[in-house]
Amino acid sequence: MLGSLIEETLGGLRIIKGFNAETYQQERFSRENAGYARTLTRLFRRRDLASPLSEFLGISVVAVLLWFGSRQVFSGHLEAETFITFLYAFYNVLDPAKALTQAFYNIRKGMGAVERVQEILGADLQIEEQASPVRIERFQTSIVFDKVSFQYANADRKALDEVSFEIPHGKIIALVGASGAGKSTVADLLPRFYDPTGGQILIDGTDIKTLKLADLRGLMGIVSQEAVLFNDTVRNNITFGSHNISQEAVEAAARAANAHDFISVMPDGYDTNIGDRGAKLSGGQRQRITIARALLKNPPILLLDEATSALDAASEQLVQTALNHLLQNRTALVIAHRLSTIQHADHIIVLQEGQVVEQGNHETLMKMGNIYPRLVALQSF
Ligand SMILES: Nc1ncnc2c1ncn2[C@@H]1O[C@H](COP(=O)(O)OP(=O)(O)OP(=O)(O)O)[C@@H](O)[C@H]1O
Ligand SMILES: [Mg+2]
Repeated sequence: MLGSLIEETLGGLRIIKGFNAETYQQERFSRENAGYARTLTRLFRRRDLASPLSEFLGISVVAVLLWFGSRQVFSGHLEAETFITFLYAFYNVLDPAKALTQAFYNIRKGMGAVERVQEILGADLQIEEQASPVRIERFQTSIVFDKVSFQYANADRKALDEVSFEIPHGKIIALVGASGAGKSTVADLLPRFYDPTGGQILIDGTDIKTLKLADLRGLMGIVSQEAVLFNDTVRNNITFGSHNISQEAVEAAARAANAHDFISVMPDGYDTNIGDRGAKLSGGQRQRITIARALLKNPPILLLDEATSALDAASEQLVQTALNHLLQNRTALVIAHRLSTIQHADHIIVLQEGQVVEQGNHETLMKMGNIYPRLVALQSF
């Protein structure tokens, strides 16, 4: 249970950070960890009480005490009653003392684990907020990538090479390109999971490096390629990190995401536990839960890395309608893998080996483009 929590924390790190939900995840961990420590303490105590070694040590100490004490008594330095009372008291302290050391040991072990998880949650590798960050509450005009280059620390060539484009407020921009072209890298730079190694990214004219990180990420909703779900109730997976959300609001988001119907027939409705990474759900259901999560957050900017996994036609249709709801009246950067989503976009940017090679809408690119028509023909976005 604790292991799977750690695993899902590491696996869902971007989503946790993207939704500013570090506290939610940390609370879950502390709860889980305290329970684990209690169980272990109980276990160890039993083991210790039965342990022959500790019994042997206890008996040896008592034997030495008896030998030393009786010498004192016989030589008249100590009253016999005092000695017996002392022995009795000593014997009574022995067991709790053993339990106590074990408990301390467990607490320290647990604290060590908590610290490590905090380190991971807090670690924004090389990402720093400047001393007095600029606050941003609303997104108003545009997002601009200005000659953005990026190279992964362990790579020998650039993943992005002077990429420039604009996402105007209220528009849907689709990013297409072969596998490895740099699409996910572009999407990771916007919430500052990494910082560009060249150029800059501006939101409403302000370099995102100068913005308060929580504000920047607060503007964005992220729906990732793989549905990131946690071993918790449906409700907590949808509200994820926000407190005081009414049942009506959760339900409205679930309805818009085409998820309410299947949730309401589950054994405990919104209080049903969905299992490890949503193991008790189908692929399409998992995707719709993450869409409901983004709908509830209702961010002005949406980063959508569309799932590549194939769904059956009925499920595909449900997910597509949910996505359409999510994209309505929003500014979005969509890494699209379905032609229908791409055709929905206002503008398409074609990436190849980290460079923007073509851009325009579907019609112009089909006519004038060189690479885009080939991608469409092969359906290999
Ligand atoms: N963490 C990383 N460390 C080093 N190199 C990486 C890392 N992530 C991606 N790359 C490299 O950067 C390039 C761009 O990768 P990116 O994930 O952005 O591609 P993509 O267009 O999203 O591909 P896909 O369609 O397969 O998701 C690739 O050459 C990839 O091998
Ligand atoms: Mg990708």
